[in-house]
Amino acid sequence: MSQLKSCFNLDDFRVLAKSRLPRMIFDYLDGGSDDEVTLRRNQDSFSKIQLMPRVLRNVENIDLSTMVLGQKVDIPLLLSPTGQTRMFHHSGEVAVARAAARAGTIYSLSSVSSTSIEDTAAASGGCKWFQIYVWRDRQIIREFMTRCRKSGYHALCLTVDLPVHGNRERDLRNRLTFPAALTLKTAMDVMSHPRWLYHYLTSPKIEIANVASSAKAAVSDGGGLMDYISRQFDSTVDWDDVAWMIEQWDGPFLIKGIVNPQDARRAVEIGASGIIISNHGGRQLDSMSSTIEVLPQIVQAVAGRAEILLDGGVRRGTDVIKALALGATAVMIGRPYLYALAAGGEEGVDRMFELIRAEIIRDMALLGCTKISQLTTAVIFNAQEIG
Ligand code: GLV
Repeated sequence: MSQLKSCFNLDDFRVLAKSRLPRMIFDYLDGGSDDEVTLRRNQDSFSKIQLMPRVLRNVENIDLSTMVLGQKVDIPLLLSPTGQTRMFHHSGEVAVARAAARAGTIYSLSSVSSTSIEDTAAASGGCKWFQIYVWRDRQIIREFMTRCRKSGYHALCLTVDLPVHGNRERDLRNRLTFPAALTLKTAMDVMSHPRWLYHYLTSPKIEIANVASSAKAAVSDGGGLMDYISRQFDSTVDWDDVAWMIEQWDGPFLIKGIVNPQDARRAVEIGASGIIISNHGGRQLDSMSSTIEVLPQIVQAVAGRAEILLDGGVRRGTDVIKALALGATAVMIGRPYLYALAAGGEEGVDRMFELIRAEIIRDMALLGCTKISQLTTAVIFNAQEIG
C-alpha cells in the first residue's frame, strides 16, 4: 500500500506495473502496433489543446456527475473492456468491476475476459456493459446476449476495429503466446517476478472464461488460444451484421472503434445509441490519427443523434476536460486501470480513481467550472484550430 501512496498520477502506476509484471506481460499491455506512432499520438494530441480558464466564479462545490446512456455516473470516466485481466493481477475483472462501482462509474467487461459474465455480475452490483466482437459463430452472439440480459448488463458494446489482429512486434519479440510457451527466456522472465509467478501458479487457470469449454477443446486441438480467437473473429462483417445485432439486443448499443465521420453517420443510421471513438489504444492500425483529433468532426457528423465517448491517451484530469469540452459525453480508459491493478490490485484501482477524481475537481476549479455541463468549447483556447 505504501507504494500506492507514492503514486501521484496515472503514469506512476505504469512504473510500478513495470516492476511487478514479467516483461512479456507488461509489454503486451504497454505496447502498440508497428512503430507505435498512434500509441504516442493519442497522448501527444491532448497536450496540443490549450485550456482557457475564467476566474472569480465561486468554485467551492464541484459536481462531476453526468448521464451516460440513461445511467447516472459520479465521474465522467468509464472503463474500457480489456481481455484476460487476471493476467495482470490475480484479482482481475472482479477487482476492477468493484472499484468502478465504488467510484460510481461503469465497467465494460470484455468478451475475452478471464472472469465470466455471471461471476463478474455476482461480484459487483455496479452498472456494467458487455463488449462483444462479431464472432464467426452467430450462436455465440445470441448466447452472450441472453446471458448478459440475465445478469443485468446495461449495454452492449461492439468492437469493430479488429477484423484482423494488429502487428504487435513487442509480443513477437517476446514470443508471447497464450498460454505462455515455456522457453528459457520466458522462464527467466517469470522467475524474476516471484510474486506474480506465485499468484499465477496458485490461482485458477487463466482462460477465456465466457467460452471456456469450446475454447478449451479448440486449444487442445493444437492451435493455441490466440489462434482460436483469431479464427472466431469474422473479417467478413459488415454494417448489415451490426444492424442485426442492434435489433437482437434491443437496448443501449455502442459501436467501439470508429474514427471516420462517415462511419459515425452510418452507425447512427443503423440505430447505435453510442459511438466510442477508439483506435484500440494504438494497437491496431498504426499511423492513424489520435482519437481526440477526430472528435470534433465526429461530433458534427453525429449531430446529437447518439452519445459519443472516446478512449486513447487519457491520462490527466485536463484530458478528460478537453474531451468533454469538445463534445464527448464521457471518456474511457484501458491501460491506466490495468497498470493500477498490476501495481496494487483492487486498492490500486481505488487509488487511481481517487487521484483522477481529485485531478478533475482541481482542474475544474482552476478552469472556473462547477458542473460537467459547463465544459463546452468556451473553455478551449484554440478550439478553432482543432475543429
Ligand atoms: C485485444 O483486444 C488487444 O488489444 O490485445
